[in-house]
Amino acid sequence: MPVFDPYSPALDADPFPIYRELRDAHPCFWSTHANMWVLTRHEDVAHALKDWQTYSSASGNLMDELPNRAGATLGTTDPPRHDRLRALVQHAFVRRNLSFLEGDIRAAAQDAIARIAGRGQFDFIADFSSLVTVKALFRLLGLPPGEDAVVREKAVLMVQSDPVTRGKGPEHIAAYQWMQAYAEKVIAERRANPTGDLISQFSLAEIDGDRLDEREVLLTTTTLIMAGIESLGGFLAMFALNLADHPEARRRCAADPALIPHAIDESLRFNTSAQRFKRRLTRDTQLHAQTMRQGDFVCLAFGAANRDERKFLDPDRYDIDRRPMGHLGFGGGVHACLGAPIAKLAAQLCMEEFLAAIPDFARAESTLPWLPSSTFRSPMRLLLTR
Ligand code: HEM
Repeated sequence: MPVFDPYSPALDADPFPIYRELRDAHPCFWSTHANMWVLTRHEDVAHALKDWQTYSSASGNLMDELPNRAGATLGTTDPPRHDRLRALVQHAFVRRNLSFLEGDIRAAAQDAIARIAGRGQFDFIADFSSLVTVKALFRLLGLPPGEDAVVREKAVLMVQSDPVTRGKGPEHIAAYQWMQAYAEKVIAERRANPTGDLISQFSLAEIDGDRLDEREVLLTTTTLIMAGIESLGGFLAMFALNLADHPEARRRCAADPALIPHAIDESLRFNTSAQRFKRRLTRDTQLHAQTMRQGDFVCLAFGAANRDERKFLDPDRYDIDRRPMGHLGFGGGVHACLGAPIAKLAAQLCMEEFLAAIPDFARAESTLPWLPSSTFRSPMRLLLTR
């Protein structure tokens, strides 16, 4: 029997062989290590994302859920409660919120690049992507400057798991509690002095007299900080890694920045940082001759579905000329990523600046230190040489 262990460092390093084995021989697999079912075929994962009545998010969507988050925020509620929350937050995510970010992102990217000028080796994450993504998210959400580094440190800790105890450790829970206290402080400040930022907007947003209550504002803010900083930062690292590993794609993107959005889409398919989320069954369900029981947890392995040859031709090839329609890098259905337009814009602007300044780079280490996380997959350090 194959072993699917979301806490295993070997899975962090290379999940693709086991994904293939599961898709081919065990498409609906009970993992004793994860204590849940695992779906890996594109058709099954895409179906589960649409069928929220059966595959519920209300018991949490992170593989290791954080305390008191289930049932209280966007990713952890089902319709109709979810739709109400989403409409109120979406209200604040209108397109005009994005354009003001462009100047900030470019300036932050140029600033970071200036600081590594002349260095033959640097860490793409510490010296570039984390600085730029945190600045962008701070501006978007309206977080006061000054605590950037500690907020990022806590956001990255919150999404980690302990491979030994196989769950959240005390340091991860403490980081989450710190983030909630921090969010509480920021919300109070924004309410006292509302500006055009997201937190001011959604904490005051009203649709037909309906508003978010205190707990919803708090957990939505905490979720946006976590999702924004960790998902975007992790994705950028994976994108840079793909460009380092595929020099031809990198050269073409550097020569023609119009290709960067296609390379982003292909990276979301090929090597997404948001590898797997979970759901809980509201009823007994038959799939591939297995009976999954009401109350069982199910892992939706987006990273495996994105490499399914039943959906994508030659899926293990990184191909920026592919138009990977239907990839699940941003999930799908009612929970499809709310930050997708911002994430795509930020990734594009960051990489345009980076490739203009540093068109040629290579990995300095063949083995990477992977984030210990059952949900996300990205390196914690990405040393590059040029
Ligand atoms: C490239 C970077 C990103 C990736 C790969 C990503 C991926 C995802 C995925 C796969 C989901 C679905 C989770 C599920 O089905 O349970 C999701 C949901 C979500 N994401 Fe992102 N995300 C990214 C960036 C962002 C950013 C920058 C923000 C906010 C500023 C954000 C906010 C959210 C929110 C609020 C949800 C929950 C939506 C809902 O349940 O209705 N994400 N994201």
